[in-house]
Amino acid sequence: MNTVHKTVLLHEVIDGLAIKEDETVLDATLGGGGHSKAALARLGHTGKLVALDADNAALERAEVTFKEVAKKSSIKIILEKSNFKDLDKVLEKHEIKKVDRIIFDLGLSTDEIESSGRGFSFRRDEPLIMTFSSDPTEEDLTAREIVNSWDQENIETIIKAYGEERYARKIAAGIVRAREIRPIETTFELVEIIKSNTPRAYHFGRIHPATRTFQALRMTVNDEVGVLTVSLEKAFEALSPGGRMAVISFHSIEDRIVKFYFKKLKEAERAILINKKPIIPTDAEVENNPKSRSAKLRIIEKIN
Ligand SMILES: C[S@@+](CC[C@H](N)C(=O)[O-])C[C@H]1O[C@@H](n2cnc3c(N)ncnc32)[C@H](O)[C@@H]1O
Repeated sequence: MNTVHKTVLLHEVIDGLAIKEDETVLDATLGGGGHSKAALARLGHTGKLVALDADNAALERAEVTFKEVAKKSSIKIILEKSNFKDLDKVLEKHEIKKVDRIIFDLGLSTDEIESSGRGFSFRRDEPLIMTFSSDPTEEDLTAREIVNSWDQENIETIIKAYGEERYARKIAAGIVRAREIRPIETTFELVEIIKSNTPRAYHFGRIHPATRTFQALRMTVNDEVGVLTVSLEKAFEALSPGGRMAVISFHSIEDRIVKFYFKKLKEAERAILINKKPIIPTDAEVENNPKSRSAKLRIIEKIN
């Protein structure tokens, strides 16, 4: 199946990374493969691309799309199903000591929103799973488990902290009341609970009333804050001297983590900031792809 994902800040990432022919590029978030494909176009026959995703669908698509490129050139392409928090293990497995360019394009691809079947979208009636991994194990936390078994206070805390939702208390109370009648199984059931526990005017605002709660559940299920924090450190460790890392974030919590980590590296004189202010999409990009509107790109270079 072809991707429906529109790559965000494509030229800004590729130009900002200044990829050279013989380099090793790590794309930590393959998704629809847009950034990887553009990186491949910059690499020569001695170059190497390592691309990761927790979602098998992304890898299956890339295996088909990149086959031709691999056949024509002798660029080494390694595709791995992995959480990016394990990027060090993937590199070790392939005996790659250092990488020269790293891309993190955080969050979800449009393919996942439209067709993962794991409940990322409040516009589709799907089971409440929300794991980035396409094959979660029994032990993996799911959105269903949170809404049906966490206590009200903890549900409120995550909706407030990760969703920055002003009706967090009302929504958490509504979830707990609803589950006393029967377990909450699907996205549409959750949307109804959110709607019936928030003021009517809120249902006609700029964003859908379930946006913030869904974001909070997804961030919790995937431990996005914890995973991003350790992964940035691992990525910086893996970077060769003079190597560059680009990170696109889509909300303020994520961007804050990236900003402070890069600032810390700069202050320790371990890296320089390629862009002082985050790069954001042009008006034309936002018009063509409204999903890009909250994107922020930060790039650093490791000091020799
Ligand atoms: C925004 S999309 C990337 C789109 C891609 N850059 C493109 O141009 O098509 C983000 C991808 O990262 C994956 N992802 C998110 N968090 C992840 C994690 N912790 N480990 C591995 N993959 C992750 C998602 O499954 C999704 O496919």
